[in-house]
Amino acid sequence: MKRTVIADALKRTDFGADVNVKGWVRTRRGNKNVSFIALNDGSTIHNIQIVVDNAKFGDEALKPVTTGACLSVTGKLVESMGKGQAVEVQAEAIEVYGTADPDTYPLQKKGHSMEFLREIAHLRPRTNTFGAVFRIRHHMSIAIHQYFHEHGFYYFHTPLITASDCEGAGQMFQVTTLDLKNPPRDEAGNIDYAQDFFGKQTSLTVSGQLEGELAATGLGAIYTFGPTFRAENSNTPRHLAEFWMIEPEVAFADLEDLMALEEDFIKYLVRWALDNCRDDLEFLNNMVDKGLIERLQQVVSTDFVRLPYTEGIRILEEAVAKGRKFEFPVYWGCDLASEHERYLVEEHFGRPVIMIDYPKEIKAFYMKQNADGKTVQGTDVLFPQIGEIIGGSVREENYDKLMARIDELHIPMKDMWWYLDTRRYGTCPHAGFGMGLERLLLFVTGMANIRDVIPFPRTPNNAEF
Ligand code: 4AD
Ligand code: MG
Repeated sequence: MKRTVIADALKRTDFGADVNVKGWVRTRRGNKNVSFIALNDGSTIHNIQIVVDNAKFGDEALKPVTTGACLSVTGKLVESMGKGQAVEVQAEAIEVYGTADPDTYPLQKKGHSMEFLREIAHLRPRTNTFGAVFRIRHHMSIAIHQYFHEHGFYYFHTPLITASDCEGAGQMFQVTTLDLKNPPRDEAGNIDYAQDFFGKQTSLTVSGQLEGELAATGLGAIYTFGPTFRAENSNTPRHLAEFWMIEPEVAFADLEDLMALEEDFIKYLVRWALDNCRDDLEFLNNMVDKGLIERLQQVVSTDFVRLPYTEGIRILEEAVAKGRKFEFPVYWGCDLASEHERYLVEEHFGRPVIMIDYPKEIKAFYMKQNADGKTVQGTDVLFPQIGEIIGGSVREENYDKLMARIDELHIPMKDMWWYLDTRRYGTCPHAGFGMGLERLLLFVTGMANIRDVIPFPRTPNNAEF
């Protein structure tokens, strides 16, 4: 008999029909005469209840039906008399695809810690929480493509292997086929990358932006969406060494356009989650974070604050003067820590903040310089619980100004002639931003640690699975 996905079976009302469902046993309870099996196949957070007349199958046949076992169950779909479900299946035939020895299967009880589940990341998709998180991750990915498609952006694929450091932070993972024990050297004794695979030193990309700008200056509006790598040794609940970044880039956009895009984009995604991931959000709201759904609803219905950096510093300094303690010092020119960002968002304004006009010293070389000579048109979108969820900017489109900044920072431009060509030929005002998919997911799922919103996290000292 053809299999019915459990999400569909739970919606059916043609009671008395024969059905086949397949899935993994979440729990089995009951008594001498009857067993109740909660079966889940990942199509929904909800299990379907299988009712088994023990005598019909015999104890021996039912012995392998334990938590974690995989079953194919054929039987009658009936209206459930019990609480908590509308339909159930009265089992007529049970095939055990795979047993799960109760003595060794690690997912026995409910309420394992997130830390423990990270150690068994190969099994955690079988839990309610991670099922919900990964279904929402899928939905957010689809919504991202849908948003850009609806708004006239083209999906543009940028390379993962690159010879340029977009953010200039030197946090790159090197890609090489050289013999690390005995690399070729030039006359000065330095490693001779001319003999490496690509004929130059290469790394995994920290951002697709530079190539994205090339595309935007031809296609008008593009976005990238792919893996991004950062060798920053920061063991925080918000940093991964491998994450997924979405980077739109738009020709002819100014600061106002950029901020409007950032706000509209995030609201669209959060609304999508509220409209399409209701069951999973309700589960997470109950089990993980009681304020989750309310926070999501709040974000879609409030205007984001636009806040110049200088004004933000003034607010923080005022708070310090009134006795608010921060771990890191606040002064004009400092790079805000997430405690500062969260103070502004959660305590001072009570809604998301788009901070703009940062000191040029703390931002990347490509940001458009303001007339004051001190600040640049960078935008960070700051969110409750998360801090920075988006980083973006208007780009410096003036060749001479851009070169002056590059010289000031001693950025080696030998390999970036192609980037400068956008400013040399038909340069145009343009802007863009980057959003980490996992930062968005932290917000949308209410999960506390970024390691728990990506299937197999890559962090310092951790590349298991
Ligand atoms: O602020 P960032 O470094 O900006 C850029 O990379 C620009 N090139 C983007 C652009 O303008 N096209 O990174 C952008 C976003 C951050 O706001 C954050 O959401 C995410 O990427 N991000 C990380 N997420 C997880 N782990 C990390 N180590 C991250 N670093 C950045
Ligand atoms: Mg940033």
